This record gives sequence, C-alpha cells and structure tokens, in this order.
Amino acid sequence: MWKSLSTLALAGGLLQRCQASYVTSMSLNAQQLFNESMSWMDGWYDRDAGYLYDVDGGAALRHETRSSVWYALGLLARNRDSDVLEAEKIITNVFGSQFTNVSQQWFADYQVYPEQPMVGDAAYPPVIYNSWDPNWRGFIGTTLVMMMEEYSDLLSNATQGLILKSLAAATVGDSYRVGGVDDDNLYPSYSNPAIMRAFVSGWTGRRINDANMTTSGENYAKEIIDLFTRANTLSEFNSGTYTGVSLFGLSLWSKYLPDDSIMSEYGPKMLQGTWSAVAQLWHPGMKNMAGPWDRAYGYDMNRYVSVMALWFSALIGKDKSSLISKPQVMSHAADYAWGPLIAVLADFQASLLPEGTLMNLTAFSGEHVFEAQAYYPPYDKVPRNITTWLSQNLTIGAESFDETEVGGPSESQESFNPAVVQWTTGDDIAFISLWPTETALDVDVSAGKLNLTYPNGNSSSVFTLVVSTFTKMRTLTGWDGVQGLDVNVSGNANTSYSLSFGGEYGGSSSTIRDFEIWNFTYSMDDDFVGTPNLCLELKLWE
Ligand SMILES: *[C@@H]1O[C@H](CO)[C@@H](O)[C@H](O)[C@H]1NC(C)=O
Ligand SMILES: *[C@@H]1O[C@H](CO)[C@@H](O)[C@H](O)[C@H]1NC(C)=O
Ligand SMILES: *[C@@H]1O[C@H](CO)[C@@H](O)[C@H](O)[C@H]1NC(C)=O
Ligand SMILES: *[C@@H]1O[C@H](CO)[C@@H](O)[C@H](O)[C@H]1NC(C)=O
Ligand SMILES: *[C@@H]1O[C@H](CO)[C@@H](O)[C@H](O)[C@H]1NC(C)=O
Ligand SMILES: *[C@@H]1O[C@H](CO)[C@@H](O)[C@H](O)[C@H]1NC(C)=O
Ligand SMILES: *[C@@H]1O[C@H](CO)[C@@H](O)[C@H](O)[C@H]1NC(C)=O
Ligand SMILES: *[C@@H]1O[C@H](CO)[C@@H](O)[C@H](O)[C@H]1NC(C)=O
Ligand SMILES: *[C@@H]1O[C@H](CO)[C@@H](O)[C@H](O)[C@H]1NC(C)=O
Ligand SMILES: *[C@@H]1O[C@H](CO)[C@@H](O)[C@H](O)[C@H]1NC(C)=O
Ligand SMILES: *[C@@H]1O[C@H](CO)[C@@H](O)[C@H](O)[C@H]1NC(C)=O
Ligand SMILES: *[C@@H]1O[C@H](CO)[C@@H](O)[C@H](O)[C@H]1NC(C)=O
Repeated sequence: MWKSLSTLALAGGLLQRCQASYVTSMSLNAQQLFNESMSWMDGWYDRDAGYLYDVDGGAALRHETRSSVWYALGLLARNRDSDVLEAEKIITNVFGSQFTNVSQQWFADYQVYPEQPMVGDAAYPPVIYNSWDPNWRGFIGTTLVMMMEEYSDLLSNATQGLILKSLAAATVGDSYRVGGVDDDNLYPSYSNPAIMRAFVSGWTGRRINDANMTTSGENYAKEIIDLFTRANTLSEFNSGTYTGVSLFGLSLWSKYLPDDSIMSEYGPKMLQGTWSAVAQLWHPGMKNMAGPWDRAYGYDMNRYVSVMALWFSALIGKDKSSLISKPQVMSHAADYAWGPLIAVLADFQASLLPEGTLMNLTAFSGEHVFEAQAYYPPYDKVPRNITTWLSQNLTIGAESFDETEVGGPSESQESFNPAVVQWTTGDDIAFISLWPTETALDVDVSAGKLNLTYPNGNSSSVFTLVVSTFTKMRTLTGWDGVQGLDVNVSGNANTSYSLSFGGEYGGSSSTIRDFEIWNFTYSMDDDFVGTPNLCLELKLWE
C-alpha cells in the first residue's frame, strides 16, 4: 500500500510525501520492535545537528554516524510529520562525512563521529577499528541500498544522487580490503562484513552499470558461498550479535538482487542453513543461544542486547525473545539501533524460514545434541568441530579448534568462548565459560560432561573458568557455592585452584563485557609432562 500511495505523492509533490507509512504493513511483532526502537532513538536525535547523539551515552554530547543512518532508514519507513526531511538531512550529513582521498586506505569510509579530527593527521593516526572502522562502509552502505530499494519514492532526486555516489565510492574503498594486508582482516571467512561487501558491490555495480564492480561483488560472494557450502555453516559461527548481522546481509542478498546473481541464488539457502543451526542452539526456556560462541558480547543474552534478539523479537515476539521490556537499559544497548532495519526485513525473512523453525524458536524441542563443523581460514588450521548438548535446564556446548591466534580470528579472549555451560538456577541464567589461553583445544561434550584438553599445552598451561554470580550465593569460596549445579572437576591439573572475583567495585579480576564474574583458575604442576586436561562433570540440583 505504501508504494501506491507514495507514487501518488511523487505526482503531488513534497506535501504528500508525508502521507504514507510503511510501518502498518509489517507484522505486529515487527511493528513493536520498529516503534519501540524508533521512539528510543527519537530521544537521542539532535535535530539541529542532523545526527543522533552517541547512543552509548557518556560521550559529552558527541554524535555518531552509523546509528544516525539506521535511524534515517526508520524515519523513511515511518514517514510521519517531518521524518522524510530529517532523513534527507542525515543522509546529506553522512555523505559529507565520507573520506575523499582515493590514495588512503580509509577512502570512502565514513567518519565514526562528525567531531573527530581528520584521520591521518599527525596527531590522529589512522588506526584500523579505532580512528576508522573499515566495516562501516558495509554497515552504512547496506542501509543506503535499503533506502533506495524500499523508499526511493520518498527521496528527492538530489538525495538519491548522493546515495549512489556514496555507494560507488564505498564499493571502491571496500575493494582495498585484503585480509592480511595493511592490518586488515577481511577474508571471505569474516562472514558478516564479507557478506555486506559482496552485496554492496553487486548491487551498486548493476545500478550504475559498472560491470567490473558487479563482477567483483559476484566473485567475492562465490568465495563466501564456497566456505559456507562445505559444512552448511557460516565461518563466523554462532554469535548472538554477528549471526544476526550475517542474517541481515543474507536477507539483502535474497531480496534485492536479480536472478542472474549468485547471491540471490544462494542467499535463501544460506539463510535456511543458518536458521536451522539457530533453531537447534536457541533455548527458548533459557532465552539464550547455547555455546560455544565464536564472538559474544556477554554471557547471558537476557542481559545484553544482541542482533539475534532483535530477529527473535520481530519473528516470535518480544516476550519470547531475550529482550527485556526496556532493551535500552541492557548492556551493549547501542545495537538496539538495528531495530528499524531488522523490523523492515523481518516479514521477508519469515517467508524463507524452514518449516518448523518458528516452533523450535518458541518451545524447547526436548533434550538433543547439535553437531557441526565451521571453518575460518587462514586462522583455522583445520575445521572446528562443534558439539552442543541441550537439556531442559542445562546446556553444554564446546568446540575443538586449532588456530593461529589465541582468542580466535578476532584475537579477542573476551569474545571467543569455545566452551560454555549455562543453566537455570530458578533465579538466574548461570554460566561457566572457558577463557581462551591456548591456540588449540580438544573437547568432548556429552550429557552432563565437558572434557577439555590442550593438545599443544605444557606445564605453563592454565584452565581459567569464568563463572557467573548468583542471586542466592553472593560470596563464593569454591565450587560448593555455585547455585543450582554440582560441579566435579577431574583431570591432570593441580586440584588446588585459585579463586578471584571480577567486580565493578573490587576483586582482583575484572568484569568482562559488563558481567561480574568469579574466576576459577587451575594450573599444572611445575614438573608436569603430558597433555593438560580438565574434565567437568555437571549435575543440576534435584
Ligand atoms: C506502531 O506505530 C504506528 C504509528 O506510527 C501505529 O499505527 C501502529 O499501531 C504501531 N504498532 C504497534 C504494534 O504498536
Ligand atoms: C592523499 O593521500 C596521500 C597518501 O596518504 C597523500 O600523499 C596526499 O597528500 C593526499 N592528498 C590530499 C589532497 O590530501
Ligand atoms: C536527477 O538527478 C540526476 C543526477 O543524479 C540528473 O541527471 C537528472 O537530470 C535529475 N532529474 C531531475 C528530474 O531532476
Ligand atoms: C575492478 O574491480 C577490482 C576489484 O574491486 C578492482 O581492484 C579494480 O581496480 C577494478 N578495475 C577497474 C578498471 O575499475
Ligand atoms: C527442531 O529441533 C529438533 C531438535 O530438537 C531438530 O531435530 C529439528 O530439525 C529442528 N527443526 C528445525 C526446522 O530446525
Ligand atoms: C574436526 O574433525 C575433522 C574430521 O571430521 C578433523 O579432520 C579435524 O582435524 C577436526 N578438527 C579439530 C580442531 O580437531
Ligand atoms: C527446570 O527449572 C524450572 C525452574 O527453575 C523448574 O520448575 C523445573 O522443574 C526444572 N526442570 C527440570 C527438568 O529440571
Ligand atoms: C577426558 O579426556 C581425557 C583425554 O582424552 C581422558 O584421558 C579422560 O579419561 C577423560 N575424562 C573423563 C572423565 O571422561
Ligand atoms: C609452554 O608453551 C608456551 C607456548 O608454546 C611457551 O611459551 C612456554 O614457554 C612453554 N612452557 C614450558 C614450561 O615449556
Ligand atoms: C583469572 O585468574 C588468574 C589467576 O589469578 C589470572 O592470572 C587471570 O588473569 C584471570 N583471568 C581473568 C579472565 O580474569
Ligand atoms: C599444587 O598447588 C599447590 C598450591 O599452589 C601447591 O602447594 C602444591 O605444591 C602443588 N602440587 C604440586 C604437586 O605441584
Ligand atoms: C561428584 O562426585 C561425588 C563423589 O565422588 C559424587 O557423589 C557425585 O555424584 C559427583 N557429581 C557429579 C555431578 O558427577
């Protein structure tokens, strides 16, 4: 309906551009995500600047580029009062924030925030993922394409011209990205930005008749597809945040490219393969995706905002997702700004889901074991092997890996969680997660058991288990205090472990991703010779 109305609006001019809203054409769950995330962002919008203030807060009123663009897409979808004019203001600002020097590595990327000094200045050196973020070409470029596809009828010719110019430049800038060169890590295995890069190149090339651009997008997509089809999994596997971004990108592949694109051919299959893993790993009772997590921004999805939670909210309803009633007070709340994009794509996404997915997402399908392989070259020397056991109130998931770096491809000990236990205490979703300290791990997972071995370990190896806090057990002196779960530890490490607390206001360890934690660390004896091993046997309290 919005289409025919806005065609009318085109004929009638600016005044009538303000009549139609896309929002009421969405499913009610998508509408709720849309309306609530937009009214939250309305509160952060600085109309004078034509930017959102930094939605992370605590930024002394600096603004932020990426969330502003996401908000602008929402404004076009909502199309109420002066929404369209504000969206065009933001788009124009963001166009002006794009770096213009083709000789620089950050060419055509977007400023992180408008107040930042010129990247590359003597006092402001270019630091990838800091003073400039190469993935923002993709985050912003994909959103600009959505604007052109869904709402071009609302946009002035001049604004559309800016968008196409911006996309053409961003595509060229993205083509500078080669994994392993100039500190960049964009390999086709870095699923979420790789999917976005291929899409923007394929879409823009077609739109501006640049065959080389189209072909390079298609060729890049082919490399991503080949990695996926070997085991029907994304290389960047099982992440509350980044699986959600990859599903976003694959929706674009599926929705906005013509039949002659390899992306429109494989997009739906890859969506289905990815959802099929999600449907088995998501625990509807615990409202968490069971481990292991390649990249996580927290230990309990009920306490931080994830992009997957937004998909769940739009598809099965907020009350069944891991969002609380006010997602903006959760950790990692800045990702709530994805709300409008996910809402706009949700009904299309739903139309591609394999039969039975929504049922599995809504009600726990019973005790089961999930097994998969995932492969992330060149960081993975061999494919990773994933095993997850899920039961009503306890899940255990882990992966064997042999990698070039500690902390996985993103070299982040905080986000790589190769072995994770979660359980319901009745009060909390509790967790035990192995803090990665080695480049290789062998796991054996079965009902009630997590067996961890370091094939390359030695007497210096440690097993650090990051453990949640507990509502009914404030102060821990050992495993006895762990609420709701019996933990027996065996293996060849020294049985006397160290225990410390990582608290907001004290303790010798630190909070991790905002979560307060207990740190149980096992060491090997000084004279240890052999392969370090630690086995946890776990049983819920009766
Ligand atoms: C969302 O907001 C629109 C107005 O912008 C309203 O018509 C619609 O009913 C709202 N949807 C829900 C589910 O609240
Ligand atoms: C563009 O960047 C190159 C490489 O950093 C530099 O040598 C050149 O001076 C820059 N050009 C302008 C106009 O700033
Ligand atoms: C729209 O913009 C393009 C350039 O982006 C220009 O060539 C064309 O003439 C414009 N059309 C109208 C109706 O203004
Ligand atoms: C064609 O695309 C590739 C990859 O994006 C790029 O490196 C190359 O410079 C482009 N060639 C031309 C002539 O635009
Ligand atoms: C639902 O979950 C069960 C395992 O509990 C699995 O066998 C089935 O394939 C899943 N269905 C879908 C559509 O993912
Ligand atoms: C995963 O399993 C395959 C056999 O299916 C094996 O070749 C590979 O080495 C295993 N990966 C790890 C890290 O053990
Ligand atoms: C799971 O936990 C819930 C809530 O704590 C409890 O009511 C239920 O009996 C437990 N079920 C099993 C199988 O342990
Ligand atoms: C754990 O794995 C190690 C190494 O494979 C093995 O020796 C040990 O028996 C296992 N422990 C348990 C309790 O299964
Ligand atoms: C154990 O292995 C690590 C990493 O390979 C190495 O740095 C360390 O020196 C080794 N420790 C001993 C005691 O051999
Ligand atoms: C856990 O505790 C050990 C031993 O005190 C310490 O070396 C390590 O840095 C701590 N790790 C984390 C993640 O808190
Ligand atoms: C085990 O660790 C304790 C405490 O650090 C230490 O006193 C003991 O000597 C260690 N045992 C061996 C066999 O090294
Ligand atoms: C732990 O060990 C004790 C004593 O050996 C045993 O009674 C208990 O069942 C074990 N618990 C688990 C979870 O294996």
